[in-house]
Amino acid sequence: MRNNVVAGNWKMNKNLSEAVALISDIKNGINNLEVKTEAIICPPFVVLETAATLLKESNVKLGAQNMHFEESGAFTGEVSASMLKSVGCEYVILGHSERRAIFNETNDVINKKNKQALKSDLKPIFCVGETLEERENGTMKSVLEVQITEGLANITEDELSKIIVAYEPVWAIGTGKTATPDQAQEVHYFIRSLIANLYTQNAAEKLIIQYGGSVKPNNAAELISQPDIDGALVGGACLQADSFLEIIKAGG
Ligand code: PGA
Repeated sequence: MRNNVVAGNWKMNKNLSEAVALISDIKNGINNLEVKTEAIICPPFVVLETAATLLKESNVKLGAQNMHFEESGAFTGEVSASMLKSVGCEYVILGHSERRAIFNETNDVINKKNKQALKSDLKPIFCVGETLEERENGTMKSVLEVQITEGLANITEDELSKIIVAYEPVWAIGTGKTATPDQAQEVHYFIRSLIANLYTQNAAEKLIIQYGGSVKPNNAAELISQPDIDGALVGGACLQADSFLEIIKAGG
């Protein structure tokens, strides 16, 4: 059986002192939850090292929100996978729709990032999702198929076992419009079938597929209880400890 995983994508929010306060609240609150759900926080780069120290001896895992695909070198302003690993990250969000849309990341770039992360022993939270236009003009499934096939190109089944896929319909991110549990389940099932075709049935059954897009305490349980939804990637609602903790609790 797959375990649920709830990750908080802080995006560009919280300075150091705000981050310390939020992490402390999450850490204290999680001790009172009796859940099997794995919790991950993904704060901004500048907070990661402090976060790793604060999270020692807690069950909360640490992730980053992005990285460069090269190992090192003249890439001003960029951060490498091994740097993230060295400050205590276990995960890294890759291919988020904001990276794709605002920073022009292509499937090829995201594939390179997935590969470099795995090489450095970081686990990608690999994001895919269609826009509203793609959903409405009937190209949703082909868009997702290309994102997944190209994003996972030359990644072995063994490597895939370290990847979490996050399905985040772009139209649901930060908009308050969540996919209904049925809509989300349909796509998660489609993604799992795609993985079964690209790899094996066993790989597909083991793959953790999170849902993301306006996940809140009041809709998390219904979404996560769908058979192919294995947790959530949470934006807005992860910026306060109580709502993030409630979503973790909803994961059971
Ligand atoms: P949201 O963001 O929960 O604020 O919609 C989700 C995400 O972008 O990962």
